Amino acid sequence: MPRALPPHPTMLAWLTALALATVSSSAASSVEAADPPAHEAPTSMVVAAEPFAAAAGELMLERGGNAIDAAVATGFTLAVTYPVAGNLGGGGFMVAQIRDSEGIQRRFALDFRETAPAAATADLYVRARAEGLLDASTFGALSAGVPGSVAGLLEALRRYGTLPREVVLGPAISLAQSGFPMTRRTAEFLRTPSIREQLERDPGSKALFYPDGEPIAEGANFRQPDLAKTLMGIAEFGPDAFYRGEIAALTVLAMKRGGGIITLADLENYRPVMRLPMIFPFAGHSIITMPPPSSGGVCLKQILTMLERHPLAELGHNSSAALHLMVEAMRRSFADRNAFLGDPDFVTLPLDRLLDAKYLAAQSASINPALATPSDALPGGSLPSVQAPLEKEETTHYSVVDAHGNAVSVTTTLNGAFGSKTLVVGAGYLLNNEMDDFAAEPGKANLYGLIQGDANAVAPGKRPLSSMTPTIITDGNGNVRAVLGTPGGPTIITNVLQVILNLLVFGLEPQAAVNAPKVHHQHLPDRVQVEKEIPADVREGLERRGHAVAERSWIGDFQLIYVDPITGVRKGATDPRGGGAALGH
Ligand code: GLY
Repeated sequence: MPRALPPHPTMLAWLTALALATVSSSAASSVEAADPPAHEAPTSMVVAAEPFAAAAGELMLERGGNAIDAAVATGFTLAVTYPVAGNLGGGGFMVAQIRDSEGIQRRFALDFRETAPAAATADLYVRARAEGLLDASTFGALSAGVPGSVAGLLEALRRYGTLPREVVLGPAISLAQSGFPMTRRTAEFLRTPSIREQLERDPGSKALFYPDGEPIAEGANFRQPDLAKTLMGIAEFGPDAFYRGEIAALTVLAMKRGGGIITLADLENYRPVMRLPMIFPFAGHSIITMPPPSSGGVCLKQILTMLERHPLAELGHNSSAALHLMVEAMRRSFADRNAFLGDPDFVTLPLDRLLDAKYLAAQSASINPALATPSDALPGGSLPSVQAPLEKEETTHYSVVDAHGNAVSVTTTLNGAFGSKTLVVGAGYLLNNEMDDFAAEPGKANLYGLIQGDANAVAPGKRPLSSMTPTIITDGNGNVRAVLGTPGGPTIITNVLQVILNLLVFGLEPQAAVNAPKVHHQHLPDRVQVEKEIPADVREGLERRGHAVAERSWIGDFQLIYVDPITGVRKGATDPRGGGAALGH
């Protein structure tokens, strides 16, 4: 067993003071309130969905660490303090622009997405359903892919970090070992009946989150000794502590107990993949974002290129005329996404065609400014339509800019809230339900109502198609202007799109760009989802153009850093829809 590291009382006191000071300010704001200014700092900034996690990153920066050290500390801390989506047992993507130890600028996209176990087959969930396991792709051990987060975060730290592993994992270990006040947001999730019912079906999750038969309440001290032990092992021995040995054996035991198929070999064979980021120009800036197996970069490039030909700024921010054009571009891009995209290491993606300038110009020209194009008139539109439930879309994002102008953008996920709801007993971590991001049953809607094609079918070792879109914006000289991202399943792509447009086309201040109400269209089901703050006359304008409009309570939990082009001041904007924090110095 790993040597026990003592809790760090000074660190805990520091983290607690900082994190609690931010809670009241973020909880007080709302989407309706007048937009407050973003949190400003001259040197560095961390923005995350939970204050302790932002404080952990900020602590690394104050100790002289770089943006990678801070991002990795924030990522491991989220696994402790935001178990809804922060994780060891999930996966994610990191997009970064940093100077390495030799001063060479690196731009990379690190893919630590989960992979399908070796025993997975294309008809895995069709067979499970036939055997009466109706929710096998979303609940329980069979819904889990091989986790990538531990390998991914440690790979980033190994290549480009500057602080030792024990230091970077210190805040997460202290918070798991000594506990922290349960957050309002996680406490709310634990009380939500549908989530509670599933968590209580898993003995490990039940014991951790409902110790006396009741959900842990907001403010109660939440300790996770098993998770602390796992984190200590990772701090001492690196990825092998998680992918081999005792913790791996506990993971396989959880599979045996829960009917899952991840083996020791699957864990040992897991590797993160370094990819070239997608980089393309827009509005005098460069957009640096995630390539496949995320659909985010491809869709962003398609939609922004289609929209460049239309006078959005003249039509006005969130006017029905501008939103109509944006929705039509989203619809066209999602038709391509759902039909053609998947894991590039397994299927040949027609990216040359999908990103071809002439093709996108024709797609853009096919948008009628006065009338919606029905989705069934586009390719892929003949797939059966569904009335998918408007699920809450978990996942989480964090953004970092350090004193040297290095930028790191990370989106990470268990997929649904608390993932598969399966806690690996003895190791204290939750497993994802990422297998549902495959076209688990072709032609059938997944958790997000997305209906997808064969390119995203299940296969051993394959990564499911994702919508996570961690993004960095640089100016014409390559200097970082913004670091951004959000959770939200497919709404991630359209939310990142809208914040980019809010900043670069409509000229909104960073906090206003985040707070502004959002819309979403994903080809099928054929309707525009609008946040409730979108005014009635704007909805009517969309309906007059032939759109079906469906209201939803909120979209995403955005975490943005904007760097002022003149002063270099870092402006951190956390989303009032969530409970996050922007911290800097
Ligand atoms: N599980 C959410 C995504 O990868 O898009």
